[in-house]
Amino acid sequence: MNHLLDWQYIDDAVWSKLVERAVEHAQHPSWSQRAAGKSLGMVFFNPSLRTRTSMELAAAQLGAFASTLTPGQGTWGFKFGTGKMDGAEAEHIVEAIGVLSRYYDTLGVRLFASGTDLEADRQEVKMREIIQASIVPVINLESAYYHPCQALADAATIHEHFSGQQKKKRFVLAWAHHPKPLPMAVPNSALLQAVRQGMDVVVARPESHALDPVIMDLATQTAEKSGSSLQVTEDLDGAMEGAAVIYAKAWGGPMVYHEPKKEATNRLAYAEWQITAERMRKTDNGVFMHCLPVRRDVVVASEVLESAQALHLRQAHFRLFAQKAILEAIWGLF
Ligand code: CP
Repeated sequence: MNHLLDWQYIDDAVWSKLVERAVEHAQHPSWSQRAAGKSLGMVFFNPSLRTRTSMELAAAQLGAFASTLTPGQGTWGFKFGTGKMDGAEAEHIVEAIGVLSRYYDTLGVRLFASGTDLEADRQEVKMREIIQASIVPVINLESAYYHPCQALADAATIHEHFSGQQKKKRFVLAWAHHPKPLPMAVPNSALLQAVRQGMDVVVARPESHALDPVIMDLATQTAEKSGSSLQVTEDLDGAMEGAAVIYAKAWGGPMVYHEPKKEATNRLAYAEWQITAERMRKTDNGVFMHCLPVRRDVVVASEVLESAQALHLRQAHFRLFAQKAILEAIWGLF
């Protein structure tokens, strides 16, 4: 495996092997020196708790060295794209990544959506500029449209929970109310991994908060290949009936780019789109998943997070195991 921008660019065979490898790591946690002498340099343009710490630990557990930079905090400010550099940024991203990729064997970068230029976010313009400038593999640690590390952890968590029997089980991607219009990377990736695993997927969201049609088309094609199904509904309660997995996530959607005021008004009107214990009782003993961080009693009731149906902490633990598998694949260790 070279760069990891998103799993859609990686073969099914490699994806399946990595899901299984992540589960193996979960079932046999270990420290080794398998990647001794390797190095991982990470650049976080946005905050992180899980991705940063689990990636540092994943490298350490394989015997590799990892370090993390936060642009603007102890580094120069980085400029992207073209134009005379007479503003605040002192270093161009092409030189910054050019240098870092000569020091480290692999880079990891977190760089969220702009939220203002839909086409640039859809095309991953900034992440692609970074990949282009790097002479070593780049791992996407959450970009404008994709969060592949989260997706692999999600798939492996589901694989473990259902002992590999998740095909045709009902997976509900449930839009949730939130005070902010969050980006689409996590719901996009959660949707794509679920259809790739052959789960019968329902996206439950208000009409105003549809995902990008580009992602829905990709999910439809993936569902056709894997023999799964994909439905969309505005009926959250109906979607919960018989569900095996409820994956809650807030997102702003494409409307944020074109009609931000309308998006905010609509979002406020859907404050009751929360995963409650009553809603969880409609499922078929379904589990609750969320990428975290999660706002208690806004996105999901505290009662659900503290119930036996909550899988979100195991899911977060899987970030470590999934990223060990990704590093092993990139470093040719399995
Ligand atoms: N889920 C996730 O990526 O968590 P962080 O933003 O804390 O890294």
